[in-house]
Amino acid sequence: MTLTGKARLAGVMGWPVSHSRSPRLHNFWLDRYGIDGAYVPLAVQPDYLPKALAALPKLGFRGVNVTIPHKEAAAAACKEVGLFARRVGAVNTITVSSDGHLVGSNSDGFGFLESLREAVGSCALSPAVVLGAGGASRAVVASLMEAGVHEIRLVNRTLDRAQALRDRLGKTIQPIAWDRLHEALDGAALLVNTTSLGMAGQPRFYLDLSSLPKTAVVADIVYVPLRTDLLAAAERRGNPTVDGLGMLIHQARLGFEAWFGVRPDMGAVQAARAVLLEDLMREQGAAA
Ligand code: ATR
Repeated sequence: MTLTGKARLAGVMGWPVSHSRSPRLHNFWLDRYGIDGAYVPLAVQPDYLPKALAALPKLGFRGVNVTIPHKEAAAAACKEVGLFARRVGAVNTITVSSDGHLVGSNSDGFGFLESLREAVGSCALSPAVVLGAGGASRAVVASLMEAGVHEIRLVNRTLDRAQALRDRLGKTIQPIAWDRLHEALDGAALLVNTTSLGMAGQPRFYLDLSSLPKTAVVADIVYVPLRTDLLAAAERRGNPTVDGLGMLIHQARLGFEAWFGVRPDMGAVQAARAVLLEDLMREQGAAA
């Protein structure tokens, strides 16, 4: 790795941050492009977030990603916040401007749409069924609306949260109770899981997909494990599937470009996928 006294600096703020794959991803790309730069994990407690962010220009950082639990508070700490991030109410990418102020944006929606495009090309996405109404869902739903999806069936265990999302983002969203999920799948072109169900350490997720058309694309934003029960069930019946690693990799491209001056191309995306897959497999092997 090239790292001189002039190195460009970026990182990821989270609490905890040790689970983050972003240092591995960005440093892999820095190495690949031969850029004099570094991307570091920054474990920042929620109470210290405003001070830590305010210190970035003084420390010479180009910017940071912010992750759980800081995405909403980071939006409040930025002087400027992009339109998509404002709609979503969360910032995941911060850039220090040339005059030293913080500009917030949200690349999660871009990451999701690009990962869909990479996996299945441009196909019909409407009507879409989105499971979950948390932070991740907001970015996915807003990106689908930007992509022109005109019907989003938002199924959530707590119906109030789905209704709150409709109030925030508009009538494209139809809130649906969790016990009506089966009906919601009828005629759908896309199914996306944004809940934590199926994630390692969380409850398994066995969903009856019999009412979902076999042409529907099934996406899961969970990537540990990579092949979730939902994706395995979809594959078995022949539905095209999209795993959660693509969203993680594609969302990182915009921050990388803003801080280090190069947008990682598809070759870099695929190479990063191989590196992250290898990590995931090693971790699974170690845990078994
Ligand atoms: P994130 O920001 O990662 O989206 P979150 O805001 O905690 O995280 O949202 C988690 C989502 O997973 C929510 O939609 C949650 O449903 P509730 O709004 O009812 O809490 C959903 N979720 C988590 N555990 C679930 C379970 N066992 N069954 C169904 N949905 C679940």
